[in-house]
Amino acid sequence: MSKDRVIIFDTTLRDGEQSPGASMTKSEKLSIAKSLEKMKVDVIEAGFAIASPGDFESVKSIADSVKDSTVCSLSRALDKDIDRAAEALKGANSGRIHTFIATSPIHMEHKLRMQPDQVIEQAVAAVKRARNHVADVEFSCEDAGRSEIDFLCRIIEAAINAGASTINIPDTVGYAIPEQFGLTMKTLIDRIPNSDKAIFSVHCHNDLGLAVANSLSAVQSGARQVECTINGLGERAGNASLEEIVMAIRTRKDLFNIDTNIDSQFIVPTSKLVSSVTGFAVQPNKAIVGANAFAHESGIHQDGVLKHRETYEIMSAQDVGWHTNRMVLGKLSGRNAFKTRLEELGHSFETETELNQAFANFKDLADKKHEIYDEDLHLLVSENHGDYEDKYQLVSLKVASCTGETPEAELVIAVDGTEFKGVAQGSGPVDASFKAIESIVGSGVELTLYSVNAITSGTDSQGEVTVRLDLGGKIVNGLGADTDIVVASTKAYLHALNLLGANVVREHPQTAEGV
Ligand code: KIV
Ligand code: ZN
Repeated sequence: MSKDRVIIFDTTLRDGEQSPGASMTKSEKLSIAKSLEKMKVDVIEAGFAIASPGDFESVKSIADSVKDSTVCSLSRALDKDIDRAAEALKGANSGRIHTFIATSPIHMEHKLRMQPDQVIEQAVAAVKRARNHVADVEFSCEDAGRSEIDFLCRIIEAAINAGASTINIPDTVGYAIPEQFGLTMKTLIDRIPNSDKAIFSVHCHNDLGLAVANSLSAVQSGARQVECTINGLGERAGNASLEEIVMAIRTRKDLFNIDTNIDSQFIVPTSKLVSSVTGFAVQPNKAIVGANAFAHESGIHQDGVLKHRETYEIMSAQDVGWHTNRMVLGKLSGRNAFKTRLEELGHSFETETELNQAFANFKDLADKKHEIYDEDLHLLVSENHGDYEDKYQLVSLKVASCTGETPEAELVIAVDGTEFKGVAQGSGPVDASFKAIESIVGSGVELTLYSVNAITSGTDSQGEVTVRLDLGGKIVNGLGADTDIVVASTKAYLHALNLLGANVVREHPQTAEGV
């Protein structure tokens, strides 16, 4: 057990997926896992195997194909969860079971309805059962941020004695403040008699915007694993962002005196992959991966950076993967150049048919748009998920929009292969198109988010549209891209309907029965 570096545990595919609408399909998860492996992430939390057959299959396929990173499945402290996680991880080169139970008074009393001693008993039994399956077991004290320190000491000591080699201290509700959280970590490591037998880990949520600060404070107090997600994806305000953690530790090595194994060149490509797969756009001023993170507007800054980069930049854009190997494809690019670039960006094709379809879409796009950038490619393949049959497909769309007149949309969509025509008016061309779809489908969904992003610069840029639909609490994000934003919006709406039909929405581990 090496304590001379910080282990990066990525939970984009598990905790990140708990963001409303961020459900990913098996092949999307596999692409992201491959990208994380290339980035040299130490541990990939691939999912919560017991949640559904789809989750089980995702964890299994990642365990079977990722070789350089440890693959982990979450499980509650229940026999059936642990056995299912072990089953999914059977093919892993290096597999880890991550089991958890809540330890705060409020969770034990109101959620678990258990006495503290019973909680310790269940935690110990879970760790022992997991150890019968795998050598690498992590134990988490859910809501540790609001737990009593004496109780944490007792349960952690017992979990280490039972065989846990990683102890995770989550700030589940994002309640902690850096100095205080660092002190909690230090107190645990100092007071628990067998703490030297485990790696202490930190897992922070961002409700007060402090997830990264709290995680870094815990590292300064001796934590040697950080749990985080790409782009800080995660439910509510998200989790600690991987790119910020990694680059803070690296940039301020003078303070941390330690590093991670991460190959930072893969940060930006992976960020773009996650954002295009989930439909969660990255805000332009987001540290490290935002479009403006290295852009210098003011004349004084530009002048300084041109004379000597370090005057205003503490990191280099190239080091985190901005524009590395950037290759612009176009109309004349061949199938091989297309496939190679996509593989470099983390997308792989399971079948020739998938590749051919994506290449045909690429040619269509190249007809409309001169230069095809990496951002376009990410979108192109995320539209082509290959995991389930689309029930709804756009056949044609005509919109009439004129000042002083009510916009009208006329569209044809194929529903399970049969074409239907819908006509509707709306307050704008997008609204009219959505109403025209609903005149055919009658889905009963509520539109809870609509956003448009221009993904590259220029007027021939593609518009990337995210549409979030809520059907009785089932939430999905649909994505669509096109040089025409009304077409992009229509595609996004149909994509969301297809996701609802494919039932990719899954159970939440922390609210599922039994925790
Ligand atoms: O936030 C949390 O407590 C979690 C645990 C399951 C580790 O995600
Ligand atoms: Zn969490």
